[in-house]
Amino acid sequence: MNEALENILLDVSKSPDIDGGDLEQASELILMSALKGLDISRVSIWLLQPDKQSMTAARLIDEKQQDTELPVLRKSELPSYFRVLMTERTIIANDARNHPATVELSNGYLEETGVYGMLDVPLRHKGQMIGVMCCESRKPLRRWTSDEVAFVGVLADIYGRAVSASERERFEELLIRQNEQLESMVAERTESLTKALDNFKQAQERLIETEKMAALGKLVAGVAHEVNTPLGVSVTAVTHCEHRLKKLDQGFSNGSISRKHLQTFISDTYEAYQLLTSNLERAATLIQNFKKTAVDQSSFELVNCQLNDYLHALILSLKPVVKKKHVSITIDCDDDIVLSTYQGALAQIVTNLVSNTNDHAFVEPDERHQIQIKTEQKDKGVHFHFRDNGKGMDSDTVKNIFEPFFTTSRQTGGSGLGLSIVYNLVTRKLNGEISVQSTPGKGTEFSFFLPDLPK
Ligand SMILES: Nc1ncnc2c1ncn2[C@@H]1O[C@H](COP(=O)(O)OP(=O)(O)OP(=O)(O)O)[C@@H](O)[C@H]1O
Ligand SMILES: [Mg+2]
Repeated sequence: MNEALENILLDVSKSPDIDGGDLEQASELILMSALKGLDISRVSIWLLQPDKQSMTAARLIDEKQQDTELPVLRKSELPSYFRVLMTERTIIANDARNHPATVELSNGYLEETGVYGMLDVPLRHKGQMIGVMCCESRKPLRRWTSDEVAFVGVLADIYGRAVSASERERFEELLIRQNEQLESMVAERTESLTKALDNFKQAQERLIETEKMAALGKLVAGVAHEVNTPLGVSVTAVTHCEHRLKKLDQGFSNGSISRKHLQTFISDTYEAYQLLTSNLERAATLIQNFKKTAVDQSSFELVNCQLNDYLHALILSLKPVVKKKHVSITIDCDDDIVLSTYQGALAQIVTNLVSNTNDHAFVEPDERHQIQIKTEQKDKGVHFHFRDNGKGMDSDTVKNIFEPFFTTSRQTGGSGLGLSIVYNLVTRKLNGEISVQSTPGKGTEFSFFLPDLPK
């Protein structure tokens, strides 16, 4: 190819207009370059319509600047012209009015425009023919050289590149718009989700409050019910005493008191007092236990507890509790285990478990009664196993064991608060977990994990 044409191609190819995305600007540059490089009168770009039945002019430059109305080129009227273009071959027509591919254009188009020579190169994009670039000469004896054919071929390829760039630009814009839409959608959703979450949290808080109040109500009702019985007995006893005292007073006034009367009065009053004392004590114990359930946070101190020493000391202090039933308690705890915890709470837990075992697991005194306390150092705390070889529990008892006021020994003074206190201490105060396993006739094991609490 001659140097002049090569230089024009180089300029077009390097121009930012080609890959800038503006197809009109790129078309203009390509057509102007064709005009510059070739000795031609007109140059135009025609685009194939989606139905592939016609082509319309996208851009035309005419040296005469003729304001001609651009026709639509229809396949039905120009079958030969379309056939050749569809095979994607260049039409090199030196004498277009007689060339087999362009002869169909001669009567109308070629005569009206005064064109004799045509050099038509198919335009391609993504391997498909999308139109044609038409170079036209009004000179009757125009011979297209092979350099010129190659030159227009390269320009046509550059046009394909420009189409790709404009498509990419369109997609990018679309992508940006869609991203923006997506972002605003996400923002909207996030906002509504945040609102929903807030509502949910509020509902949850209300629910927790309601639950707390219900639990408190249950506890208060239980305590009231429990305390009511001993207080009722006490009131009856006092009324009875008052009635007897009135009678004594009357007898004393009219001098009708016999020695026997006085003795009966005294022994009755003693009995009533005993009843009063035991019932008032029971009421006091219940109230005390109730106070413990509330777990006074400040009554415990967070310390590094040397578990082995502490458990031994604790069990020693509990010996009187288990002495009567000959219960032996063994502790299996490594010397070096230290747990950062509320020691007072741990003492309450162990005391409750020991007294429960003594009261419920072992019915009669027996040398074989045994409690084993075993500790295992874990990654972030200590696992406790508290096992007895007593009578065990059925599954119904196991299910309810941590419920406040659940007891199987109401007649013998149980209030059913012991294990609910233990549960609250382990899970709330000490941030741990507790579970129980029991086999009737074999024994019970309480397992609980206490984490090292941060100071
Ligand atoms: N080691 C055990 N073996 C068998 N049963 C047990 C054992 N520990 C607890 N229980 C059962 O669990 C019930 C609930 O125990 P909890 O300590 O809560 O109440 P209580 O001991 O009955 O009364 P309180 O402790 O308030 O005086 C007991 O009544 C008993 O039936
Ligand atoms: Mg108990």
